[in-house]
Amino acid sequence: MIVLRTRDAVLAWRQGLADGATLAFVPTMGFLHEGHLSLMREARRRAGDDGVVAISIFVNPTQFGPGEDLDRYPRDEAGDLAKAAAAGVDVAFCPADPAELYARSRTWVEVEGLDRHLCGRSRPGHFRGVTTIVAKLWGLIRPDVAIFGEKDFQQLAILRRMHADLNLGGEIVGMPIVRETDGLAMSSRNANLDPASRAAARAIPGFMAEVRRRFDGGARSVDALIGDARDALEPGVIDYVEVVDAELLEPIAEITGPALCAVAVRFGGVRLIDNALLRP
Ligand code: PAJ
Repeated sequence: MIVLRTRDAVLAWRQGLADGATLAFVPTMGFLHEGHLSLMREARRRAGDDGVVAISIFVNPTQFGPGEDLDRYPRDEAGDLAKAAAAGVDVAFCPADPAELYARSRTWVEVEGLDRHLCGRSRPGHFRGVTTIVAKLWGLIRPDVAIFGEKDFQQLAILRRMHADLNLGGEIVGMPIVRETDGLAMSSRNANLDPASRAAARAIPGFMAEVRRRFDGGARSVDALIGDARDALEPGVIDYVEVVDAELLEPIAEITGPALCAVAVRFGGVRLIDNALLRP
């Protein structure tokens, strides 16, 4: 596996790639777990034997707000590179410094509206940081396909909009949430949970399962789905519990088309998110 450290090295590597070979790309912030690796295996499958799988590992400062966990974000580059190589990755872009991507930068990419609810409301500027870095990486790597997880459902919806609006070329693919055996969605941030908070965080998949049970039982009003079920999230500090239209990400009162139940809850100061698609 090749490790590239600078923007210039990525440009030179990209220039040397044969036309026609499929280039599949998975951007990450590292501290890789099975969720990330599932995207890389899918990238390998789509690239085929003749294609190339590239990833990036970069804790992007512009998507963290003041007081957020940029300094506490877990890192393990050596471990990440070993896992990525085992998952079939050919090239890893690990910028030596944020300046490789942001030196003299004056351009922001902002997708309007889709960030009004869910994580966008409690993390102002977050999605602007995400869309800006993904646009920069897309321009550098110029992938045929880029793969993202549905765990960050709002991020994926916003990136799909950006990708279409800016005619970036290639294709965006979403992959299902990978979970721990007790149902907690895998996240690099899970490493920051103390044992008591880790145990308490099981309340999130418990809540999701209850909402799904009610939905499968015929409940369609959002109040019936989440009204008192939210109590199960108790030991955590709820940031939001919402049911939104799965496309517009606007809150709804009644489910009549594809909907998303999404939550953000803090356990021991660690902010965790999860979601479930509800299709009537
Ligand atoms: P990061 O949180 O490292 O996630 C990288 C990719 O892995 C994202 O597409 C995310 O949705 C996916 N992912 C994370 N946990 C997952 C899980 N349990 N199951 C399936 N997929 C999972 O998302 C980011 O980084 C950044 O915002 C980034 C897009 C790299 C821009 O900086």
